[in-house]
Amino acid sequence: MNFRKKSISTILINSNSGKNSLKQVLGATDLILLGIGCIIGTGIFVLTGIAASEHAGPALVLSFIISGIVCAFAALCYSELASSLPATGSAYTYSYIAFGELVAWITGWALILEYGMAASAVASGWSSYFQGLLNGFGLYLPTALTSGYNLEKGTFIDVPAIVIILTLTFLLSKGVRELTRVNSTMVIIKVGAVLLFIAVGVWYVQPDNWTPFMPFGFSGVAAGAATVFFAYLGFDVVSTAAEEVKNPQKNMPIGIIASLLICTALYMIVTLVLTGIVPYTELNVKNPVAFALNYIHQDWVAGFISLGAITGMTTVLMGLIYAQTRLFFAMSRDGLFPKVLNKVNAKSDTPVVTTWVTGILVAIFGGVIPLNKLAEMVSMGTLGAYIIVSLGVLSLRKTNPDLSRPFKAPFLPLITLLTVLSCGYLILNLSAVTWIACGAWFLIGLIIYLVFGRKNSNMANQPLEEPTTLSQQENV
Ligand code: ALA
Repeated sequence: MNFRKKSISTILINSNSGKNSLKQVLGATDLILLGIGCIIGTGIFVLTGIAASEHAGPALVLSFIISGIVCAFAALCYSELASSLPATGSAYTYSYIAFGELVAWITGWALILEYGMAASAVASGWSSYFQGLLNGFGLYLPTALTSGYNLEKGTFIDVPAIVIILTLTFLLSKGVRELTRVNSTMVIIKVGAVLLFIAVGVWYVQPDNWTPFMPFGFSGVAAGAATVFFAYLGFDVVSTAAEEVKNPQKNMPIGIIASLLICTALYMIVTLVLTGIVPYTELNVKNPVAFALNYIHQDWVAGFISLGAITGMTTVLMGLIYAQTRLFFAMSRDGLFPKVLNKVNAKSDTPVVTTWVTGILVAIFGGVIPLNKLAEMVSMGTLGAYIIVSLGVLSLRKTNPDLSRPFKAPFLPLITLLTVLSCGYLILNLSAVTWIACGAWFLIGLIIYLVFGRKNSNMANQPLEEPTTLSQQENV
């Protein structure tokens, strides 16, 4: 086992040195768009239906508020670390400094669950909406090619999911500027679709539909919160872009907190309008937002919203694949994965090998494993990462009190305590099957670390570093 820690100066030197470093091209607006691009997607367009009809009823708005608050605690912690340690790799890099290599590896392994598997899950959701649109034009794919492996349903492979993943991988391999240009336009379309839903739907709200407000009691609201937690996943992706951000100390906190606030506000309004238009008992459908518009005979608007949803899920997918590539990049740069993964292509300025390895792995999972099997594991990985980040903030305040912190999380250590308790509560609400599956996942991760990472890590081949002081950091 190894608890060797990275020093802050190494992190900053690594991220700023010319060889295998990434260009600083992203501003605050790019980050907000990247954040919203990663957040609004399958959660609001797909999961709200099940969450309202089976768990929370019209009180789903409270579920969104609870999940939003849990994420806000974590967002404050992410912002502090991202503004003071602008290095790629997000929670993985932070825990390398705060807790050492073994915890960093476990965090990185948890983040692969978050980003990689979530990307696969969103691709499956994308595929269902896309096929719904094709069916609207009377076009049908052969059943075997419509979804992941399921003998009972006669499905084997989800071809649309694979095609969209590989297309986005290609775009990402062409460079980050390309990504943000396409991403910005698509985010505007997606937010436009959400606003259109609100603007049209609000006139058809029947307040009677909000009674009873909490048909399943508070436990239903809590279960709803655990379900729609997926809808918030992605705000932390902003912090994985740290090395590519101009003036990261100022722009990172703006990007993380603003995107989370905007999405929370939109989610709350959409949920109120949705449950105000359609009785919650009728919302158990795969496309609740479009369904609600069909319900009030606004079929054309429903068509536009479906297109917006597809666009929305595309941006989420792009952001998650992007985050996964940057994570592999950071882990291989540290020697925990083979070094070939951290080669930066001179022309496109992107880690091309990493991008394709990620795209192919995500395509295999997304193409073969059905969506519902992936979703809970994603939550486990994400909540675990939030807990580690919040503990990391606290630990670094103690071990490196002089580190320059342009953004400071307020109310420490209370904020750490609240993050650990609230995320821990949601983890406890996950099913036993998820616990077993995640146990197996982390065991495999530990074996890989012991067999490969421990020996090949850069830190295995260099002397232990002195603790970093403020002056060292300023010299970087
Ligand atoms: N938050 C993202 C979504 O809802 C993962 O699709």
